[in-house]
Amino acid sequence: MNKEKILTKLGKKVIYQIYPKSFYDSDGDGIGDIRGIIEKIDYLISLHIDMIWFNPFFISPQNDNGYDIADYYNIDPLFGTMADFEELVSKLRVNHIGVMLDMVFNHCSTSHPWFQKALAGNEKYQKYFYIRPAKKDGTLPTNWKSKFGGPAWAKFGNTDKFYLHLYDPTQADLDWHNPDVRKEAANIINFWRKKGVTGFRFDVFNVIGKSEILTDSNGDEKDEKKLYTDTPVVHKYLHELNRASFGQDSEVITVGEMSSTTIANSIEYTNPNNQELSMVFTFHHLKVDYKNGDKWQTIPPDFSKLKNLLFTWQEQLDEGNGWNALFWNNHDQPRALSRFCNTRKYRTQGAQMLATAIQLLRGTPFIYQGEEIGMIDPDYSSIDEYVDIESKNAYHILQKKGFSAHDAFLAVKQKSRDNSRTPMQWTDDKYAGFSTQKPWLTSTNQYTINVAAELKHGEIFKFYQNLITLRKNEPLISDGHIKALLREDKHVFAYSRYLDDSELIVLTNFYDEPASLELPSQYLQCPGTVLLSNYQRILKELPSSITLKPYEALVFKFN
Ligand code: GLC
Repeated sequence: MNKEKILTKLGKKVIYQIYPKSFYDSDGDGIGDIRGIIEKIDYLISLHIDMIWFNPFFISPQNDNGYDIADYYNIDPLFGTMADFEELVSKLRVNHIGVMLDMVFNHCSTSHPWFQKALAGNEKYQKYFYIRPAKKDGTLPTNWKSKFGGPAWAKFGNTDKFYLHLYDPTQADLDWHNPDVRKEAANIINFWRKKGVTGFRFDVFNVIGKSEILTDSNGDEKDEKKLYTDTPVVHKYLHELNRASFGQDSEVITVGEMSSTTIANSIEYTNPNNQELSMVFTFHHLKVDYKNGDKWQTIPPDFSKLKNLLFTWQEQLDEGNGWNALFWNNHDQPRALSRFCNTRKYRTQGAQMLATAIQLLRGTPFIYQGEEIGMIDPDYSSIDEYVDIESKNAYHILQKKGFSAHDAFLAVKQKSRDNSRTPMQWTDDKYAGFSTQKPWLTSTNQYTINVAAELKHGEIFKFYQNLITLRKNEPLISDGHIKALLREDKHVFAYSRYLDDSELIVLTNFYDEPASLELPSQYLQCPGTVLLSNYQRILKELPSSITLKPYEALVFKFN
């Protein structure tokens, strides 16, 4: 397939993300499951999506909700059986919906037989991990910090050695320099391909490339990350994996979760000539409300920074023939609607505006469950309501750093990953129509925000359907180039999508008050049509100045 065709294919797709634990509970244990997803297939079809990314449902002790895999080849009984999975794949396939699985290859659970054999003294498997002696002075092999707090090293059984874990101590980092580890990864992918899986998401993949000799950092968090993030060898191993597995089928879609990556690397990961990945998830645009880069200190979103980041990435990826995943939400982020918009007054308009702003960019949109009905963060009043390991750790670490218990709680409330992990709200029932039993995580706003109400008289789901249809039918959106507009405007995020002689522009007001803007003169009095508006605006040409309503989104295509 030539490279233009590959990008066109990606540009028409829309991917939906399901967090299985929280989608729908079919057997009344308070935890979502595969049969629950099967029961909701009609709902998924009605959104016109092309593929579903499922967070991991492999065998796991669930210390990090399935990102600690103990068996990559089997379904955790918590979620169902292999037969359930096969039924899900085939029922989705009949409806032209592909399945994307989450491949967690930077680390595996310490309950995985590889780690258990290593612990029992098997040298072959000890080479699967980063096992190192203490320094001469008895301190840990390096001063690295775990991303979930505390040191990145834990004692290796009863030995005097330590193993590396960039995440939880129960998630041991795999040594990708070992060709056996790389072969295991390819085998796992090929196993699932045979089951009809046509998409793969690679979890935190750009941290696999640590050097063989691990060295201390200078203690600065950013510098420390550079020691193991986005190194050249990641490209090498990705290319090798591509050739040995998913790259053998041009239908397969892949996305790499790339922490703190660069534009140059993202182009390299995704330029089809390099045979690495279809696209990448990058996170810079979701850190615009971090104070000094610290996730747990929240400031109002820096809109200029957000615009700059999105524009620079979009324009440069376009130039370099790279490809991005487009998203505001996932299972690791608080809900964007709560983060960027005044949901008390403008939940509907805010949801529609955010969706327009992100989905019409150049790339492949990802919609996270519940986003399409305008779900917002839960309103918890105690730390005990949170389940997530990162949130719980942060609560204690922040207090150690001097935060009061109250302030530590508020920090968690704003940034906890549980904000997006609450059960999908199907009805206004006590358990949100998600389960007949008390769910594993509590919902608090299902009384007003739920699928039943949304489908009856809401305006968000329909708007998502229209946006998705637009992407499928309008080549300017699936294939067009991108150009930033109104770069300096303090309220409006605007861009043009153009291809050959045709062009459309997208105008979105990110604020809960009207925003006036002057359009560049080349657009004035040019006839065209409104493709999408969340205020039913009708225009036959664009006036020289226009005032957007709160959270207004307007898409205008020139004749
Ligand atoms: C990714 C996942 C996250 C998980 C982490 C470690 O960032 O999205 O949920 O905790 O990797 O696997």
